Amino acid sequence: MAGVSDRQVVGTLHLLLLVAALPLAAREISGGVSTWTDEKNHHQPAILNSSSLQRVAEGTSIAEMWQNDLRPLLIERYPGSPGSFAARQHIMQRIQRLKAAWVLEVDTFLSQTPFGYRSFSNIISTLNPTAKRHLVLACHYDSKYFHQWDNRVFVGATDSAVPCAMMLELARALDQQLLSLTNVSDSRPDLSLQLIFFDGEEAFLHWSSEDSLYGSRHLAAKMASTPHPPGATNTNQLHGMDLFVLLDLIGAPNPAFPNYFLNSARWFYRLQEIERELHGLGLLKDHSSQRQYFQNYGYRGAIQDDHIPFLRRGVPVLYLMPFPFPEVWHTMDDNEENLDESAIDNLNKIIQVFVLEYLHL
Ligand SMILES: *[C@@H]1O[C@H](CO)[C@@H](O)[C@H](O)[C@H]1NC(C)=O
Ligand SMILES: *[C@@H]1O[C@H](CO)[C@@H](O)[C@H](O)[C@H]1NC(C)=O
Ligand SMILES: [Zn+2]
Repeated sequence: MAGVSDRQVVGTLHLLLLVAALPLAAREISGGVSTWTDEKNHHQPAILNSSSLQRVAEGTSIAEMWQNDLRPLLIERYPGSPGSFAARQHIMQRIQRLKAAWVLEVDTFLSQTPFGYRSFSNIISTLNPTAKRHLVLACHYDSKYFHQWDNRVFVGATDSAVPCAMMLELARALDQQLLSLTNVSDSRPDLSLQLIFFDGEEAFLHWSSEDSLYGSRHLAAKMASTPHPPGATNTNQLHGMDLFVLLDLIGAPNPAFPNYFLNSARWFYRLQEIERELHGLGLLKDHSSQRQYFQNYGYRGAIQDDHIPFLRRGVPVLYLMPFPFPEVWHTMDDNEENLDESAIDNLNKIIQVFVLEYLHL
C-alpha cells in the first residue's frame, strides 16, 4: 500500500532539491500548495489561562450530557438494527440543533459479514469542510452484537456510548466558540474540527481483519481517494487530518491511559498537563494527583481499533483508550449502573480544553 507518509517523504525530498537549486525561489515554494500538509508537525496549542479553564469547567454539564446525549444511546444498536437507526437519528439531531454550522454526511455502504451482506452508516460531522486541516475526534456508535440472555441486552455503555456522548457534549458546550470558526464575516480558517461516529467497529462473530472495523476501513479508503482541498491533484482528505483522536472504552472508574504513539506524544503530554492544571485549580471531582488518568508510561502493543486504517495510511493518531480495559468490557454489565460520572465529567473538561487549545479558540 502506498501510504500518505511515503508520498510526504517524496514531496519533502523534491522540495529540498528545489530549494537547494533555487534559493531565491524558496519563499514562493514554501508558500505554495505542497507544504501545508507539514503544518500539523509544527502546530502549537494556544494555552488557556486559569480563568479560561474555569470557564470551560463551568460550561460543561455532566447532567445534561447524561440525560440528553447518553441515555438515548444506551440501547442495542448493532449495525442494521432498529437501535442503530435510532442512534444515528439521535446523533444527527443533537448536532443539527447547534448554532455552529456543522455539515453532516452519512457514509452508507454494504459489506460482506459472517451473516451475509449488511448495511453500515458512518456519520461525519464537519465544521468548514473546505478548511485545509481538521482536528478529528472519533468514536464508534455501534454496539457489539450479542444474543440476549436473561432478557438482558448489551448496550455497550463504555463501548462506546459514553465516548460518543462526550463528543456531543463537547459540541454543545463549545458551541459558541466553535461558531466563531464558521463565522462568515471572518476569513475562512485553515484549521477546523471534524467529528466521526463510526458504525461497525465490532466483530459480528470473532474478531478478524474481515470481521471488524467495517466503518473505519471503508471511510479511510474513501477519504484516501477523495481529493482535498476540493480540486487538489496530489493531496486527499487524509492529508487534511492533523490529528486523529480516537475515544474508546471510556466511562469506567479509575481509567489509566497510556501513551501509545511517539509521533503524537507531545499532544499526550499536553493532556497530562491540562489534567494537572485543572486538578490544581480544584476543578476535577474525586480526582487524586497520585492517580492521574494520563499515565507516564507508554504502551507499544498493537490494539486493533478504528484508528488502525488511518494509522496505516500515515495519519497521526492520539489514542484515548484505557489500558487495562474496563472490567465490564464485552459483558452485560457494561451498562449505565457501572459508569463513573465524575471520571467522565473530568475527562470532558480535559478534552474540551485540549480542543480549544488545539484550535486556538
Ligand atoms: C485569560 O485569557 C482570556 C482569553 O484570552 C483573556 O480575555 C483574559 O484577560 C485572560 N485572563 C488573565 C487573568 O490573564
Ligand atoms: C463574526 O465576526 C465578526 C468580525 O470578526 C464579529 O464582529 C461578529 O461579532 C462575529 N459574530 C459572531 C456570532 O461571532
Ligand atoms: Zn467492543
